[in-house]
Amino acid sequence: EQAPVITVDGPGGSGKGTVTQMLARELGWHLLDSGALYRLTALAAMRQGVALDNESELVKVAASLDVSFEPTPPGEPARVILAGEDVTSEIRTETCGDNASKVAVIQSVRDALLQRQRDFRQYPGLVADGRDMGTVVFPNAPAKIFLTASAEERARRRYNQLKEAGVDVNIDALLEEIRVRDERDMNRSAAPLKPADDAQVIDSTGLSIKEVLDRCMAVAGQA
Ligand code: C5P
Repeated sequence: EQAPVITVDGPGGSGKGTVTQMLARELGWHLLDSGALYRLTALAAMRQGVALDNESELVKVAASLDVSFEPTPPGEPARVILAGEDVTSEIRTETCGDNASKVAVIQSVRDALLQRQRDFRQYPGLVADGRDMGTVVFPNAPAKIFLTASAEERARRRYNQLKEAGVDVNIDALLEEIRVRDERDMNRSAAPLKPADDAQVIDSTGLSIKEVLDRCMAVAGQA
Protein backbone atom coordinates (compact mmCIF):
# COMPACT_ATOMS: atom_id res chain seq x y z
CA GLU A 1 0.00 0.00 0.00
CA GLN A 2 1.50 3.30 -1.13
CA ALA A 3 0.78 6.81 0.14
CA PRO A 4 -1.66 8.74 -2.08
CA VAL A 5 -0.25 11.16 -4.61
CA ILE A 6 -1.77 13.88 -6.77
CA THR A 7 0.30 14.91 -9.78
CA VAL A 8 0.18 18.44 -11.19
CA ASP A 9 1.95 18.85 -14.53
CA GLY A 10 1.99 21.73 -16.96
CA PRO A 11 4.09 24.46 -18.54
CA GLY A 12 5.97 27.07 -16.52
CA GLY A 13 3.94 30.08 -15.43
CA SER A 14 0.65 28.19 -15.39
CA GLY A 15 0.34 28.95 -11.66
CA LYS A 16 1.45 25.43 -10.73
CA GLY A 17 3.99 26.55 -8.14
CA THR A 18 1.51 28.65 -6.18
CA VAL A 19 -1.35 26.20 -6.54
CA THR A 20 0.66 23.11 -5.53
CA GLN A 21 1.98 24.91 -2.44
CA MET A 22 -1.57 25.83 -1.41
CA LEU A 23 -2.86 22.36 -2.24
CA ALA A 24 -0.16 20.68 -0.13
CA ARG A 25 -0.93 22.98 2.78
CA GLU A 26 -4.70 22.47 2.49
CA LEU A 27 -4.32 18.68 2.38
CA GLY A 28 -1.47 18.57 4.92
CA TRP A 29 0.59 16.57 2.41
CA HIS A 30 4.24 16.69 1.34
CA LEU A 31 5.24 18.68 -1.74
CA LEU A 32 7.67 17.68 -4.47
CA ASP A 33 8.93 20.60 -6.57
CA SER A 34 10.60 18.50 -9.25
CA GLY A 35 11.54 21.55 -11.33
CA ALA A 36 13.80 22.62 -8.46
CA LEU A 37 15.81 19.40 -8.91
CA TYR A 38 16.48 20.23 -12.57
CA ARG A 39 17.29 23.84 -11.64
CA LEU A 40 19.67 22.59 -8.92
CA THR A 41 21.36 20.20 -11.33
CA ALA A 42 21.95 23.10 -13.74
CA LEU A 43 23.21 25.37 -10.95
CA ALA A 44 25.49 22.74 -9.43
CA ALA A 45 26.91 21.97 -12.89
CA MET A 46 27.71 25.63 -13.50
CA ARG A 47 29.34 25.92 -10.07
CA GLN A 48 31.47 22.85 -10.78
CA GLY A 49 32.39 24.07 -14.26
CA VAL A 50 30.52 21.24 -15.98
CA ALA A 51 29.21 22.15 -19.44
CA LEU A 52 25.45 21.77 -19.92
CA ASP A 53 25.96 19.27 -22.73
CA ASN A 54 28.54 17.10 -20.95
CA GLU A 55 26.25 14.14 -20.41
CA SER A 56 28.46 11.84 -18.36
CA GLU A 57 29.50 14.60 -15.94
CA LEU A 58 25.93 15.96 -15.66
CA VAL A 59 24.68 12.53 -14.63
CA LYS A 60 27.22 12.52 -11.80
CA VAL A 61 26.15 16.01 -10.74
CA ALA A 62 22.48 14.96 -10.71
CA ALA A 63 23.16 11.70 -8.86
CA SER A 64 25.22 13.38 -6.17
CA LEU A 65 23.10 16.53 -5.57
CA ASP A 66 23.43 17.46 -1.91
CA VAL A 67 20.11 19.21 -1.42
CA SER A 68 17.59 19.74 1.32
CA PHE A 69 14.22 21.49 1.29
CA GLU A 70 13.55 23.31 4.54
CA PRO A 71 10.06 24.21 5.67
CA THR A 72 9.08 27.88 5.90
CA PRO A 73 6.01 29.67 7.29
CA PRO A 74 2.78 28.89 5.39
CA GLY A 75 2.52 30.69 2.07
CA GLU A 76 6.26 30.90 1.50
CA PRO A 77 8.19 28.57 -0.79
CA ALA A 78 10.46 26.04 0.97
CA ARG A 79 14.05 27.15 1.43
CA VAL A 80 16.35 25.27 -0.89
CA ILE A 81 19.78 24.40 0.47
CA LEU A 82 22.48 23.18 -1.92
CA ALA A 83 25.65 21.88 -0.24
CA GLY A 84 24.93 24.01 2.82
CA GLU A 85 24.20 27.18 0.87
CA ASP A 86 20.78 28.84 0.60
CA VAL A 87 20.05 29.04 -3.13
CA THR A 88 16.29 29.67 -2.85
CA SER A 89 16.30 32.83 -4.96
CA GLU A 90 19.23 31.90 -7.15
CA ILE A 91 17.48 28.88 -8.66
CA ARG A 92 14.45 31.03 -9.60
CA THR A 93 16.22 33.21 -12.17
CA GLU A 94 15.28 32.99 -15.85
CA THR A 95 18.82 31.85 -16.66
CA CYS A 96 18.61 28.98 -14.21
CA GLY A 97 15.18 27.96 -15.56
CA ASP A 98 16.49 28.03 -19.09
CA ASN A 99 19.57 26.00 -18.16
CA ALA A 100 17.35 23.56 -16.26
CA SER A 101 15.34 22.90 -19.41
CA LYS A 102 18.62 22.19 -21.26
CA VAL A 103 19.80 19.54 -18.80
CA ALA A 104 16.24 18.16 -18.61
CA VAL A 105 16.37 16.96 -22.23
CA ILE A 106 19.01 14.37 -21.29
CA GLN A 107 17.41 11.01 -20.49
CA SER A 108 20.28 9.78 -18.28
CA VAL A 109 20.00 12.94 -16.14
CA ARG A 110 16.27 12.30 -15.76
CA ASP A 111 16.98 8.69 -14.78
CA ALA A 112 19.47 9.88 -12.15
CA LEU A 113 16.74 12.01 -10.53
CA LEU A 114 13.93 9.45 -10.75
CA GLN A 115 14.27 7.54 -7.48
CA ARG A 116 14.95 10.73 -5.52
CA GLN A 117 11.56 12.01 -6.73
CA ARG A 118 9.73 8.77 -5.95
CA ASP A 119 11.12 8.84 -2.41
CA PHE A 120 8.95 11.92 -1.74
CA ARG A 121 5.88 9.68 -1.81
CA GLN A 122 5.26 9.35 1.90
CA TYR A 123 2.27 9.41 4.22
CA PRO A 124 -0.06 11.14 4.59
CA GLY A 125 0.35 11.94 0.87
CA LEU A 126 2.22 13.85 -1.81
CA VAL A 127 1.48 16.72 -4.18
CA ALA A 128 3.93 16.34 -7.08
CA ASP A 129 4.62 19.40 -9.26
CA GLY A 130 6.41 19.06 -12.61
CA ARG A 131 6.24 18.14 -16.29
CA ASP A 132 6.22 14.33 -16.18
CA MET A 133 4.80 13.53 -12.75
CA GLY A 134 1.68 11.83 -14.12
CA THR A 135 3.33 10.30 -17.20
CA VAL A 136 6.67 8.97 -15.91
CA VAL A 137 7.41 9.46 -12.22
CA PHE A 138 4.03 8.46 -10.72
CA PRO A 139 2.17 6.77 -13.58
CA ASN A 140 -0.12 4.96 -11.11
CA ALA A 141 -1.15 8.15 -9.27
CA PRO A 142 -4.87 8.03 -8.44
CA ALA A 143 -5.37 11.72 -9.24
CA LYS A 144 -3.70 13.69 -12.04
CA ILE A 145 -4.03 17.29 -13.14
CA PHE A 146 -2.61 19.04 -16.18
CA LEU A 147 -2.62 22.77 -15.51
CA THR A 148 -2.22 25.16 -18.42
CA ALA A 149 -2.75 28.79 -19.35
CA SER A 150 -2.20 30.65 -22.60
CA ALA A 151 1.39 31.79 -23.23
CA GLU A 152 0.19 35.43 -23.19
CA GLU A 153 -1.42 35.00 -19.78
CA ARG A 154 1.70 33.29 -18.41
CA ALA A 155 3.90 36.10 -19.72
CA ARG A 156 1.58 38.68 -18.11
CA ARG A 157 1.71 36.89 -14.73
CA ARG A 158 5.47 36.61 -14.84
CA TYR A 159 5.74 40.27 -15.83
CA ASN A 160 3.62 41.35 -12.85
CA GLN A 161 5.63 39.13 -10.48
CA LEU A 162 8.92 40.62 -11.66
CA LYS A 163 7.56 44.17 -11.62
CA GLU A 164 6.44 43.68 -8.03
CA ALA A 165 9.94 42.47 -7.21
CA GLY A 166 11.27 45.69 -8.75
CA VAL A 167 12.74 44.00 -11.83
CA ASP A 168 12.33 45.90 -15.09
CA VAL A 169 11.53 43.53 -17.96
CA ASN A 170 10.07 43.62 -21.43
CA ILE A 171 6.85 41.61 -21.75
CA ASP A 172 7.50 40.64 -25.39
CA ALA A 173 10.89 39.26 -24.43
CA LEU A 174 9.24 37.26 -21.65
CA LEU A 175 6.65 35.88 -24.04
CA GLU A 176 9.40 34.82 -26.43
CA GLU A 177 11.33 33.07 -23.62
CA ILE A 178 8.18 31.23 -22.57
CA ARG A 179 7.57 30.07 -26.13
CA VAL A 180 11.15 28.84 -26.51
CA ARG A 181 11.02 26.91 -23.22
CA ASP A 182 7.58 25.39 -24.03
CA GLU A 183 8.90 24.29 -27.39
CA ARG A 184 11.93 22.60 -25.81
CA ASP A 185 9.85 20.90 -23.08
CA MET A 186 7.13 19.63 -25.44
CA ASN A 187 9.30 18.48 -28.33
CA ARG A 188 12.05 16.59 -26.50
CA SER A 189 12.07 12.82 -26.80
CA ALA A 190 12.76 12.24 -23.07
CA ALA A 191 9.52 12.63 -21.07
CA PRO A 192 8.01 15.41 -23.19
CA LEU A 193 5.54 17.77 -21.54
CA LYS A 194 2.05 16.44 -22.27
CA PRO A 195 -1.03 15.51 -20.25
CA ALA A 196 -1.22 11.91 -19.03
CA ASP A 197 -4.10 10.06 -20.73
CA ASP A 198 -5.96 9.99 -17.42
CA ALA A 199 -5.18 13.59 -16.37
CA GLN A 200 -7.86 16.22 -15.89
CA VAL A 201 -6.92 19.34 -17.82
CA ILE A 202 -7.51 22.65 -16.08
CA ASP A 203 -7.00 25.85 -18.08
CA SER A 204 -6.28 28.63 -15.60
CA THR A 205 -6.49 31.45 -18.17
CA GLY A 206 -8.84 34.02 -16.67
CA LEU A 207 -9.34 32.07 -13.42
CA SER A 208 -8.36 33.35 -9.97
CA ILE A 209 -5.98 31.33 -7.79
CA LYS A 210 -8.93 30.48 -5.57
CA GLU A 211 -10.93 29.13 -8.51
CA VAL A 212 -7.99 27.02 -9.67
CA LEU A 213 -7.41 25.71 -6.14
CA ASP A 214 -11.09 24.73 -5.79
CA ARG A 215 -10.91 22.74 -9.03
CA CYS A 216 -7.69 21.04 -7.94
CA MET A 217 -9.19 20.17 -4.54
CA ALA A 218 -12.10 18.50 -6.33
CA VAL A 219 -9.64 16.30 -8.25
CA ALA A 220 -7.60 15.66 -5.09
CA GLY A 221 -10.73 14.16 -3.55
CA GLN A 222 -10.16 11.19 -5.89
CA ALA A 223 -6.67 10.45 -4.52
O1 C5P B 1 8.94 24.06 -13.23
P1 C5P B 1 10.25 24.76 -13.42
O2 C5P B 1 10.16 26.01 -14.23
O3 C5P B 1 10.97 24.97 -12.12
O4 C5P B 1 11.15 23.74 -14.24
C1 C5P B 1 12.35 24.13 -14.85
C2 C5P B 1 12.63 23.21 -16.05
O5 C5P B 1 12.92 21.89 -15.57
C3 C5P B 1 11.45 23.04 -17.00
O6 C5P B 1 11.44 24.02 -18.03
C4 C5P B 1 11.67 21.66 -17.57
O7 C5P B 1 12.54 21.69 -18.68
C5 C5P B 1 12.40 20.92 -16.46
N1 C5P B 1 11.52 20.00 -15.76
C6 C5P B 1 11.34 18.75 -16.27
N2 C5P B 1 10.59 17.82 -15.61
C7 C5P B 1 10.00 18.14 -14.45
C8 C5P B 1 10.13 19.44 -13.90
C9 C5P B 1 10.90 20.36 -14.59
O8 C5P B 1 11.85 18.44 -17.34
N3 C5P B 1 9.28 17.20 -13.83
